[in-house]
Amino acid sequence: MLQDKVCIVTGAGAGIGRATAIEMARQGARGVLAADLDRARAEETAALVEAAGAAALGFGGDIADAAAVEAMVAAAAERFGGIDVLHNNAGIHETGFTERTRIEDLDEAIFDKVCDVNLKGVFLATKFAIPYLRESAAGAIVNASSLSGLVGFEGAGAYCATKGGVILFTKVTALELAADGIRCNCYCPGVADTDMARGYIASQPDPVLAEQVLVASHLNARMADPVEIARLVCFLASEDSSFINGAAVPIEAGAMAWRGVHEATGAAS
Ligand SMILES: NC(=O)c1ccc[n+]([C@@H]2O[C@H](COP(=O)([O-])OP(=O)(O)OC[C@H]3O[C@@H](n4cnc5c(N)ncnc54)[C@H](O)[C@@H]3O)[C@@H](O)[C@H]2O)c1
Repeated sequence: MLQDKVCIVTGAGAGIGRATAIEMARQGARGVLAADLDRARAEETAALVEAAGAAALGFGGDIADAAAVEAMVAAAAERFGGIDVLHNNAGIHETGFTERTRIEDLDEAIFDKVCDVNLKGVFLATKFAIPYLRESAAGAIVNASSLSGLVGFEGAGAYCATKGGVILFTKVTALELAADGIRCNCYCPGVADTDMARGYIASQPDPVLAEQVLVASHLNARMADPVEIARLVCFLASEDSSFINGAAVPIEAGAMAWRGVHEATGAAS
């Protein structure tokens, strides 16, 4: 539970971020700042958070822009009187910007953009939130990595590299902040049913087969509902996980538990 906690969720305008902001309110959070590049969607999420029982603030800004991130953190602290939880959720995938995503073809500017959002964004939000989290009785940072941070996917070199980077950045953050009583963990989802996942599937040469193969890699042969990921984020953000620190927690329905050919598709999963 997140009773009376103040939380920031980045990339809260859709998908897992929106589901988490709402779940935080359901779990008793006092205030939630819902930040997103798309201000209107951040404000929609804030309204949903309020409907779920917490005070909320929508914030529009680019997670890769240091000034915007500093303003985001300050806005949460000013409005709610402190910060207890930072959920670094904002993320992008190169398939959202181009069809030419194999390393040989990938445009340098798109590689940089994925790094700026997925990795530098985590650094910036963490950096600016630390002084506030230090004042919390139980500060916690929860970072979005991915199954793509643990294994490679073709045509996803930038995404996989940044998600692998998030795992090591999480460990260093935990190490540096343990003495301040701040924990930092990340989690590695399989495929959750969001705009990003749908965009990735649509970008594949055979989207129907791509969806079958992705889903078949989960032992529970379906995509995750974003709220299933949100519940893990809330657990890692709460004192219920007080002895978990520097971890990369899989939430992938057993995708890492096996390697084989799935009967339904005949494809390697
Ligand atoms: N959906 C999945 O299957 C899956 C699997 C593993 C990891 N993840 C990770 O979970 C996180 C959320 O994914 P999702 O599927 O909900 O994505 P999504 O695309 O559905 O939502 C991402 C949100 O982030 C926002 N955003 C994008 N760029 C931003 C920026 N520069 N600054 C601020 N906000 C920005 C978008 O506007 C959007 O509202 C990402 O870090 C993603 O890599 C998702």
